[in-house]
Parts: sequence; structure tokens; C-alpha cells
Amino acid sequence: MQRLHKKFQLRKPVAILAAALALPLGIVAATAGEAKPDPAAGQQIMQKQLAVMKPELQAKVKALSPEIKQFLAHVAAKHTIKSDTLTMAQVMQQVMADYQAMAMAVSMDDAEGAAAAARRLADHRLPRGGLLPYLPLEKVNSNDLAVLPAMEEAVEGGSLRLAEAAEKGNMAEAAGHLGAIMQGCVACHQHFRGQPGTSALLR
Ligand code: HEC
Repeated sequence: MQRLHKKFQLRKPVAILAAALALPLGIVAATAGEAKPDPAAGQQIMQKQLAVMKPELQAKVKALSPEIKQFLAHVAAKHTIKSDTLTMAQVMQQVMADYQAMAMAVSMDDAEGAAAAARRLADHRLPRGGLLPYLPLEKVNSNDLAVLPAMEEAVEGGSLRLAEAAEKGNMAEAAGHLGAIMQGCVACHQHFRGQPGTSALLR
């Protein structure tokens, strides 16, 4: 019973997000105010990411559908700051800090602060090897990764929309975007991560 409940919880936010955004894979929506990334640059970065992956992950990545590969290349090209050392957990903590700074600035009627934090969040660093090494290996397949574009749209698209609303001085609209962004964080965590820091030594 508990298992079923957990499974339902895992799938629900993703399904809602995907349905709400109805984002077809491969057709990567141009997000508000976003520069078009160079596809060739994306391919090159993907090759670099592949080079630092262990063979078992490389094999999974090579087997992905062309649509997912295209999406991953788009993400790789879009994020201008890549790190050779940072882990996903470290990047996520920066993202969390930017989210909090953004929420605080919105609540304090600080349009500049909100826009700056939102743009930092949208242009977060990419960890060593990209996103895939930090997901459970069994989830690195075309089916599970098909939810990524909807999450990217919610988190990064939402942040850029929040920045634009704040820059127009419309803090009420900016506030409205906070929830959609957090839905993207939650959907990805529930699908790929689960509860952080659980212990195998507890019954
Ligand atoms: C594409 C999927 C994805 C999205 C979107 C996402 N996260 Fe995460 N997040 C992860 C994964 C995977 C981990 C676990 C990383 C690890 O432990 O290696 C994680 C971990 C975290 C952690 C814990 C870091 C630690 O020290 O263990 C925080 C905090 C976090 N995310 C915040 C956020 C916030 C805030 C957002 C939205 C603004 C967000 N994440 C969006 C995938 C995502």
C-alpha cells in the first residue's frame, strides 16, 4: 500500500507538469529572453561530458533517442558556465540559494535583486559530466529522461519570465512565477532523486 502510494506521488507532479506544459520533445520552445544556443557547440560539449563518464554510463547515453540527445546538447550549449570540478549537489545548493534570494527580493519589492537572482538561477553552472552522472543509472533511458524538457521549461523558463516581470516592475506577476518554478524543482526531485540523505542502516 505504502509502495503504491509512493509510486503515485512520484508520477503525479511529472504528469501534471508535462500535461500543463504539453511540450513536445525535440521542439525546444524558445524561452523568453533566451539567446539561441549553437547546436554544434552543444555536440562538442556532449562529447566532453561523455569522455569523463564511466563505460556503463556512456553506453546508456549512446543508446538515448536522437530527440533526447538533441535536448541534452541544447542544455549543454545554453549554460555558459561549465565546471570541471563541481558536483550536482554543489550546483543544486547554489540554485537553492538563488531561489531563496529571488523569493526574498520579490517579497521585499526589490525588482533588481529579483531579476538578478532569477537570471543567475536560469544560467546555473553545469556540474562535471553534466546532469546524467548524478541520476540513478537505471533512469538514464529515453523514457525517464523525456520529462526533462518540461522541467527545464518550468525552472529556467519560469525564472526568465520572473526576471522580465520584475524588470517591468510587475512584482505581483513575478510572485506568481515562484510557484511554477518550485513545481519544476519538486517534479525533478520526485522523479529522479527521492528523499535526500536516507540511510541503509535504518529499518
Ligand atoms: C533536472 C532535475 C532537477 C531539477 C529541475 C532540480 N533539481 Fe535539485 N536535485 C536534482 C538531483 C538529481 C539532485 C541530487 C544530486 C546528488 O545528490 O548528486 C538534486 C539535489 C538538490 C538539492 C540537495 C543538494 C544536496 O546537498 O544534496 C537541493 C537543495 C536542490 N536540488 C534544490 C533544487 C531547487 C531549488 C531546484 C529548482 C529551482 C532544483 N533543485 C531543480 C535534480 C534536479
